[in-house]
Parts: sequence; structure tokens; C-alpha cells
Amino acid sequence: MEDKKERQGFKSSIGMILAAAGSAIGVGNIWRFPYVTGKYGGAAFLIVYLLMVIAIGIPLMLAETVIGRRGGEDASKSFKKLAPGKKWYLSGTIGIFAAFIILGYYNVVAGWSLKYVVNSVTNVFAGKTPSEIEGIFSTFVSSDFSPIIYALILISVTMYIVSHGVQKGIEKASKILLPVLLIILVVLSIKSLSLEGAYKGLEFLYKPDFETLFASKDGILVAMGHAFYSLSLGMGIMITYGSYMDKGENLGKSVIKITIMDTLVALLAGLVIFPAVFSFGLEPGQGAGLVFITLPNVFLQMPGGFLFGSLFFLLLTFAALTSTISLLETVVAYLIDSKGMERRKATLYSGLLIMILAIISSLSMGETLGGFKLFGKNLFDFFDYVTANIFLLIAALIEVIFLGWFYKKSEFMDEVTNGSKIKFEAKEFVFFMIKYVVPISIIVLFLVNNGIF
Ligand code: PHE
Repeated sequence: MEDKKERQGFKSSIGMILAAAGSAIGVGNIWRFPYVTGKYGGAAFLIVYLLMVIAIGIPLMLAETVIGRRGGEDASKSFKKLAPGKKWYLSGTIGIFAAFIILGYYNVVAGWSLKYVVNSVTNVFAGKTPSEIEGIFSTFVSSDFSPIIYALILISVTMYIVSHGVQKGIEKASKILLPVLLIILVVLSIKSLSLEGAYKGLEFLYKPDFETLFASKDGILVAMGHAFYSLSLGMGIMITYGSYMDKGENLGKSVIKITIMDTLVALLAGLVIFPAVFSFGLEPGQGAGLVFITLPNVFLQMPGGFLFGSLFFLLLTFAALTSTISLLETVVAYLIDSKGMERRKATLYSGLLIMILAIISSLSMGETLGGFKLFGKNLFDFFDYVTANIFLLIAALIEVIFLGWFYKKSEFMDEVTNGSKIKFEAKEFVFFMIKYVVPISIIVLFLVNNGIF
């Protein structure tokens, strides 16, 4: 009975691509990619990054969508369908667990973005000195209530969307959020590029500097790690979304489109941020400091900065939201498919637990829980660290070892060609990567990131 249930998938191909691209496009594209590009040699880094995306990102994303579509279930149960009685499903379970933990801190950041939309709209930064602007951010994130309220709002919105299901919730929301996000990006990049001295930002970003790249010991690994995180791999998301893909869909093409969108947004984000930062003579940085401290200073000095600042933080909030939707869906799909729960209930229970995690992560940024440390990190940083450097990599490693070495190659080929109905020229290349190159790369990344090697 249970397996006969109607399982809804994406209605349209474009809806599916927007939902998956929405997952991939997140704060990582905006606050991390542009900075690491500049730092590690501009266009030189970009070339390496693109190679990593082709060599590792695309094969891995295809591996995940193959597992999902063939299994037709959540990220854990899909493995059980493909390899009954075996333990490979643990890859999915680890990924889902990682998604759950990530939701805990990612929502906090999403909440900050929303707060900054409010700050920009209400012109909080007007007349403030740079150190006051810095103070606004540090006081806000370390306070007990306000950031939690914003995180809870974001979680509730995510729950609302996910509770409406794949088509009426996720697909519909993605079809609105992503196009708006793209329009804002284009508007902001035109504005930024038109500022005086914008070329200095472009120079920082895209001037090829192979010396810097090769002189840095970790540039290549940073590119690899970022490709991983940016494409939302290793956490069951693409397996879950893959399970909603139509059997007639061309998986290879879809994966390539999703990847191109993610990369384009990252490149555009660079065009928004650095020309403006350099034009006003500020120092580039990355992460929270860049978007919540440096950029408000930029917007303050920019004519019309009030409007552009509001748009920028709206962009950041939307980027985060489409990612939290995919993370929550991964957890909810597990509760539905593996645990037989009904969607609304699954959303409610997981949402409530995530709220608790978010409260803990947020409090760990202030005095209340800031003194509590795991391996020298507060909980917020700890969650980020263990998911990105341990869970995601282990989940992805198990996945590719399974597909490359233990699953029948003919079944894989069957899935990427829709039972020989379509051609997928790169299939041998991709399979080779999944079998040899991706697992070795993940192992290297794991050893180096965790300081073992
Ligand atoms: N891909 C997202 C980004 O670049 C991050 C993310 C990670 C989203 C994990 C969902 C899950 O910001």
C-alpha cells in the first residue's frame, strides 16, 4: 500500500530547474565566491573553479539526481530502492542530518538579511560613522531577542512554502523568487559598474593572476570546496529534487543548466559588490563582515544608496530563502517517505526542531551561549564546520563509491539516457569522474580541510 501512494513531482521543467538553482544560489554565491575569486588570482581562480565545476560539481550533481530519480523516494530511501538490504542509504541519512543542522544556522543568517532589509528601508544607517555601522551589526547579532525573531520569521516562511508541497509550494515560490532575484542582481550590477572607479573592483576580481593562485597553497582546494558547497551537494537535496523530476526530463542537460545559473549568479554578485566597494575606497573582505558592515557603508555614500541597499538585502534574503526551502524539503521528504508522516505534520515537527537549533545557534553569537565551545568554536561556527567539512564530504563520498563501484553501470547509463531514448554525449566522461576523480578529490579535500594532511 505505502509504496503505491501518489508522489507529486515538479510540474514543469523550468520549475524544476529554478527550484534546484534556487537551492544552489545562496549566500555562498554572494558573500564568499566574489571574495575568494579576488583573493586567489581573479580570472585565474575562475578558470580553476570552472574546471572543478565540470570535473566534480556536474558529475556529482548528476550522480545525485540519478539516485533520486531512479529511487523515486527521499534521499535515504532512494538508496534502499537501488540497493535493497545494503547500508548505502546511510549516505542519504547523513546528508539529511546535515541538511537539518545547516538549517539551524543558515536561517539565522537569513534572518540577519531580513533585518537588514528593514534597516535599509527605515534608513537606520543614515549619518552613521563606519564604526557605528560596525557596532550596529555586532550589537544586533549578539543580542538575545531580535536575531531570533528574524530567524523564526524566516523558518516560518520556509515552513509555509514547504507545507504546500512540491508544485504549489516549492515550484511556485521558486518561479517568483528566482526571477526577482535575477532582476535585482542585474539592476545592482549596472549601478555598481557605473560608479566612478568601478574598474578597480573589476581588476581585483577578474584580472588573471596565476602567480597569486599558484603561490597560495590552498587556492585549488578552495575552488573545489566552494564548488561543492555552492552546488548544494552532499546533503540529499539534489537526490530529493531528482526524485521529483519527470522520467522524460534530460538529467544531464538539467544539471548543466542549474550549474550555469549558479555560476552566473556568483559572477554577477562579484560585479555588484567589488566595483562598489573599490569605488568608495573600502577594503574588500568576505562573509558577514563584507555584506553587513562594508556594504552598508558603501550604500550610505552612494547616491540612491537607500534604494540599492534595500534591494541588495532583499536579494540576499531571497537567495537564502530558496536555499532553506530545499534544505527543509529534504528533511520533510524523509519524514514523509521513510517515516510515513503526512506533509503538514512532517513540516511542523521538523520546523519546530529547527527553530530550537536556530535559537541555540543565534544565542551562541552573544553572551548567553557564547562561552559554550566545542573544539574551540561557538555552536554557530561548529555547525557550519562539521557540516561543510565532514558530513557533506562523507555523504558524497559514499554516494560516488556506491554509484561508481557497486551499482550497475548499465543502470546508470539507462537513467541518464532515459532508457536510450535520448543521447547524453558526456556519459562516459561523467561516469569516469564519478568512479575515480570525484572520490579521490573528496578524500583529499577531507584530509586537508580537517588538518589531517
Ligand atoms: N548553495 C548554497 C550557497 O551557495 C548553500 C547551501 C548549502 C544551500 C547547503 C543549501 C544547502 O549559499
